[in-house]
Amino acid sequence: MAGGLAREVIRSMRSAFPFDSRPGRHDLINLRDNENPFGGPHRHYPDNRNGDLVAAYARALDAVEIAPAPGGPEWHWGADSILITRGAADGLDLIFRTFFEPGSDAVAVTPPSFAIFDELAAVYRIARHPVPLLGENLDRLDVGRLAALPVKGVILCDPGNPTGTCLAPEDVLLLLDSFRGLVVIDEAYVECSGRPSYRHLIPDRPNLVVVRSMSKALGMAALRLGAVLAHPELLLALRKARLPFALPGPVTAQAMTELSQLAMLRGQIEAFAGERDRFAAELAGCPRVGRVFAEAGFVTIEGDPDLAAELRRAGFDTMPEPMGWPGHVRISVGRPSANSRLIAALKAAPRAAQAPKTTPETGPETGPGTAPETAPETAPETAQTPGTTRTAGTAHSPGVTRETGTGASTGAGAGAGVEPATGAKTRAAWALRTARTAQAPQTAWSPRSQGKGRQT
Ligand SMILES: Cc1ncc(COP(=O)(O)O)c(C=O)c1O
Repeated sequence: MAGGLAREVIRSMRSAFPFDSRPGRHDLINLRDNENPFGGPHRHYPDNRNGDLVAAYARALDAVEIAPAPGGPEWHWGADSILITRGAADGLDLIFRTFFEPGSDAVAVTPPSFAIFDELAAVYRIARHPVPLLGENLDRLDVGRLAALPVKGVILCDPGNPTGTCLAPEDVLLLLDSFRGLVVIDEAYVECSGRPSYRHLIPDRPNLVVVRSMSKALGMAALRLGAVLAHPELLLALRKARLPFALPGPVTAQAMTELSQLAMLRGQIEAFAGERDRFAAELAGCPRVGRVFAEAGFVTIEGDPDLAAELRRAGFDTMPEPMGWPGHVRISVGRPSANSRLIAALKAAPRAAQAPKTTPETGPETGPGTAPETAPETAPETAQTPGTTRTAGTAHSPGVTRETGTGASTGAGAGAGVEPATGAKTRAAWALRTARTAQAPQTAWSPRSQGKGRQT
């Protein structure tokens, strides 16, 4: 059973704190929580179960997400399948604490990926097996390798940070079919990706855990909220492992207000994704910019190493070599005026070196990235090898079929006239529901050197 995936210490634990902060019976006076009855308006501990916030969040998700294909199982999203956390980062930390036994369990990661996965593995002394992403657009998984690893779980980032692309759904589904351990999908950017969430698979996949953030498309970063969605057995284990009264009452109240404004949320996500797509298209037309990836809540471009430095001189702070991925710059989507100024700065900049064409080297990967590592030595790695000859075709997914690789690259300098991969393209491609045959992915990226410190 899925609950068996939790660490022994969690399984055998009886929660020290009841899930509801107030006694269940309203006719009882709470003399249990040692609060100061003479305190101010915040003297009471907040609700520990966050039932109202969970309900508001579930409603908001249904309102802003791309709907899954019809015909899925009936499922009620409530406090037994959604745990609200202090940001997605807190959710990831909780997942490590709940499921991975320090010093003995191992986790697979798919670089280039979100650096916090590596940091948490290091902190909790979890051996880390990097299995690099494959394919020209780094949107393919080496499912065979992942499924064969002696690991407790696999952590994916989809849409990928820093890759800016969505994984081929057929790879994700194949992994879920062939791997019995925990499959964690960090979907921090899914609301603006143009694909449905994998959360809809949870009823049938009790080993799937989906991590979400309210900091990105929902525009609530200052509140520090996110969520872990999972089958009730897994969620119970997470609940036992978390510290009590985790969410401040005023934060919950503010979030409830914002989450109830569904039209406003939809509008701001549309504006965000629309501006991202405009920005990506403009970037694709700039000199020195290579391929452009924009299926998440940011834009990643191929560009020579000096590009970020030049942008900095022009007044823009961007993320060069995001998560140690050389030859790329990750750029957040700013307000339209800022984005336009950045484009103008790029167009005015001297045409130094051309953007690196990612003409990939192919061949089996033999670098250090293939060997399992133990966490203490594994600071996030950087470095790239190359390569690829991906002939990606398609993909099936939560009941939906997606066409992958649709123009996901622009060719160096966008002079090539190919559009960048954007959320709009993903949306259109998913909607096409065109079944094609998926090709075997080829190796694309392999980490070699050490990372450069924390990146988000
Ligand atoms: C992929 C990914 N996951 C999780 C997070 C953390 O999000 P939060 O602000 O919800 O903690 C980030 C933040 O940048 C992210 O990029």
